[in-house]
Amino acid sequence: MPKSTRNLKFPPFTIKPPEQKEKQGVKLDIVLVLDFGGQYCHLIARRIRENSVYSEIVSNEITPEEIKALDHKYNVKGLILSGGPKSVYEEDAPKINKKILELGIPILGLCYGHQLLAHLLGGEVEPAKSKEFGITYATIIEPIAILKGLGKNEKVWMSHGDTVFSIPPGEFEVLARTKNTPVAAFRHKAKPIYGLQWHPEVVHTENGIQMIRNFIFEICKCKPGWSMKDFIGKAVNEIKSIVGEGKAIIALSGGIDSSTATLLAAKALGQNLAAIFVDHGFMRENEPELIRQTFQKMGFHFIAVNARKRFLEKLKEVTDPETKRKIIGEEFIRVFEEEAEKIGAEYLIQGTIYPDRIESGFRRFSEKIKTHHNVAGLPTKIKFKAIIEPLRDLYKDEVRKVAEMLGLPKELVHRQPFPGPGLAVRIIGKITSEKISIVKKADSIVREEIERSGQQDRLWQYFAVLTDTKSTGVKGDCRAYGYTVAIRIVESKEAMTASFAKIPYQILEKISTRITNEIPQVTRVVYDITHKPPATIEWE
Ligand code: XMP
Repeated sequence: MPKSTRNLKFPPFTIKPPEQKEKQGVKLDIVLVLDFGGQYCHLIARRIRENSVYSEIVSNEITPEEIKALDHKYNVKGLILSGGPKSVYEEDAPKINKKILELGIPILGLCYGHQLLAHLLGGEVEPAKSKEFGITYATIIEPIAILKGLGKNEKVWMSHGDTVFSIPPGEFEVLARTKNTPVAAFRHKAKPIYGLQWHPEVVHTENGIQMIRNFIFEICKCKPGWSMKDFIGKAVNEIKSIVGEGKAIIALSGGIDSSTATLLAAKALGQNLAAIFVDHGFMRENEPELIRQTFQKMGFHFIAVNARKRFLEKLKEVTDPETKRKIIGEEFIRVFEEEAEKIGAEYLIQGTIYPDRIESGFRRFSEKIKTHHNVAGLPTKIKFKAIIEPLRDLYKDEVRKVAEMLGLPKELVHRQPFPGPGLAVRIIGKITSEKISIVKKADSIVREEIERSGQQDRLWQYFAVLTDTKSTGVKGDCRAYGYTVAIRIVESKEAMTASFAKIPYQILEKISTRITNEIPQVTRVVYDITHKPPATIEWE
């Protein structure tokens, strides 16, 4: 049984409520994004929300009846068919219910969605002779409707194997082409049906936002009315409606995601919430103390559990990264179950965000990259009635906005992301107490030097990885055979892609010198110069 440090008192709930405009009776305009499994599907919804219009991702199998049923809550003003990895000719290629096209709601197909629309309506789609990946220049034939306000030549971002070679019969017209794609954009002249072969949602399409704005405002006639404050109200209501008069625990790691989810849950549940912080032994230097100090005074029931021994025991001989994540996910849940039982809580709340889910391959047509422990790392049998993930559709920077609105201390809002399994996935190979202390020390040196140099604001993450490679060195005139530490410093916007940071050599030199001087077991320090993709940010 893990030792636990409890707040014996239940202090009153003191989190500042956000200013929330009451919107009762006013229906929000919504644009639905039909998910065909594309890596950037969620970015489409995000770009729409950035323009103050509400958007949600729905299954590609949504029926016309389901769309109509949404009308009691929202005005469904537009539909976007996302990209996806399939070809329209594959047997199991995802389709849409064709009756959706008869609803009269404006519809826009992007990439796979563009090909699917063309195919369903009778156009000609074939594998491209030259596939287009990355930046391409599109010739705009007609700068109208979705392409209103654009120049003759537009820098767009493509990623496709199939191509639309001819538009469907009837009143369709081609709006743009590229060198290899004769129908790069098309529309129906009378009905609001549009297709774009490129991805306006990614930043590399120079005027992508203009295209999205054209669709939502000019074509769908949406009225802006959505803000992050609405998100807070919606999330709080959702938690309340699921938990009701019951009790819940929240998995609090002290990172931005779980801290924000904790504040939302505390707003929803007050005294019926307990925040559980599990110290698995893979936290950064001084972190458990910092978390305890920060959250103990926030006014909700806070429980810190020292579970270091049991985690280390379970991971003793494990080297495979996915197995590590699964074991950690399982052990987390067991600790949470034990703590929940003590206080009679039946629900578990987690701070899972969108990129955690997408990389864990939660969607039918998308690829699994790695098992983020709080998503696919969970055991299948758990004792909770439900797991609630109020931040599941947000990206990190959106979470930061919510956190600021909820009054989370600045130091926490702007902390670099830290994976749930912690330093365990930054020790390559077997985990030992010695290795934990090496990577902890190396990590704290990296953090100190980066923060001293003032570089941190432009960086997404900066940390040390203890590789399982040993190499020969010379220390104090003697041969030394020690560990190799890798430094990983990246810039990123959403963690879906990342670039290694071009850190000045003097800073890298300082880091390397300090690590080899201050950690006797390390003889070599290397800098990771790989972007994501092809690498991921973490090494495991
Ligand atoms: P990767 O390594 O997949 O990481 O490029 C993307 C971002 O996610 C963080 N990360 C995790 N976060 N649980 C988490 O809560 C996890 O298991 C996990 N794995 C990676 C990583 O630090 C980076 O910011």
